Amino acid sequence: MTRAERLQFWNVRNLSYKIVLGVLVSALVLSAIVGMGSRTQNAVFVYEVGKPVRLGQRVVPSPKAGEVLIKVTAAQLLPHDSYGRDRGVFIGEKLPIVLGSSLAGTIEELGPDVAPDYELGERVFGTSNLQCPTPDQAGLQQYAILQADSIGRTPSNFSDDEVATLPINVATIMIALFTKFGFELSAPWEEKPFDFASQTIVVLGAGTNAAKIFTRFATKQLGIKNIITVASLTNTAALLEVGATTVIDRHAPEDSIIEQVHIVAGRIDNVAMIIDCASWEHHLAASLLTPNKPSRLVTLHRVNEAKVQETRPLCRATLV
Ligand SMILES: NC(=O)c1ccc[n+]([C@@H]2O[C@H](COP(=O)([O-])OP(=O)(O)OC[C@H]3O[C@@H](n4cnc5c(N)ncnc54)[C@H](OP(=O)(O)O)[C@@H]3O)[C@@H](O)[C@H]2O)c1
Repeated sequence: MTRAERLQFWNVRNLSYKIVLGVLVSALVLSAIVGMGSRTQNAVFVYEVGKPVRLGQRVVPSPKAGEVLIKVTAAQLLPHDSYGRDRGVFIGEKLPIVLGSSLAGTIEELGPDVAPDYELGERVFGTSNLQCPTPDQAGLQQYAILQADSIGRTPSNFSDDEVATLPINVATIMIALFTKFGFELSAPWEEKPFDFASQTIVVLGAGTNAAKIFTRFATKQLGIKNIITVASLTNTAALLEVGATTVIDRHAPEDSIIEQVHIVAGRIDNVAMIIDCASWEHHLAASLLTPNKPSRLVTLHRVNEAKVQETRPLCRATLV
């Protein structure tokens, strides 16, 4: 090979190296740019209804206007999550899906218009919109999007685990008190005059957390004066503290419970609203209610309204 031929050979080789190197560098830069917009995270997926959940990966979503991205530290699973995994309730058409609709954590990123209402790093909790078509708002992943108007700041004396359980209880109580699935009382924000003070509500299963939150809200926020609770007596101090008028021992004979409730209520016709937070059968509730006028039984478990109406035909029984 002559010197000129050797130079030409090296130039061609250099050019090939440059092209290969150029392509490699471009690919790296491109993947870095693409990667910046699509961090991935771990998430627990339902891939198939009726099958065990599995760990997978998905892109970390970006918050849009009115939204925040939350680094999730606690998530709550509820009965509807297991009905979803087992039977496809709410999730049938959206697979693969991530479960968990209540969560707590810290704000990782703010949507364009959310500051100054919230700041990066703030501890918050909230609940997702079950209608969300993607898993972006689900709790069982490292980062979730929530609407800024469906979160609250976590009080310093609450752990993230504790606060993640609040939304479902608060939502349940609101539905129980103010909607057609519950007592249909006039909500304070409707600003219609309503005599809360003179109402009587009997709370069965009052040892539950749901019942204690209900009683606190009904007495301290609404001003209902007569909340008659039935629970194990170990709950007495806690129930009186949240505003219960009295605590009747749920382990007493049924006749005795009925008699005591009617004495505290003044007369049987005052017992027209009962919330049962624990039972799966509602014989006691039906026996307590007035037979003389329309009444409401609101339950946190499935209720057989026809069976209740065998005892109290004027009772409307609903699950919230
Ligand atoms: N549908 C909804 O939207 C909704 C929302 C929230 C909760 N829930 C459901 O409501 C129930 C209560 O939830 P929670 O977390 O508040 O309960 P929890 O705090 O775990 O309740 C435990 C208490 O329930 C009481 N209890 C157990 N069996 C009872 C019975 N047969 N009769 C009367 N009281 C009984 C006991 O109180 P004593 O100390 O008196 O023995 C026990 O200490 C759960 O089944 C939950 O799934 C439903």
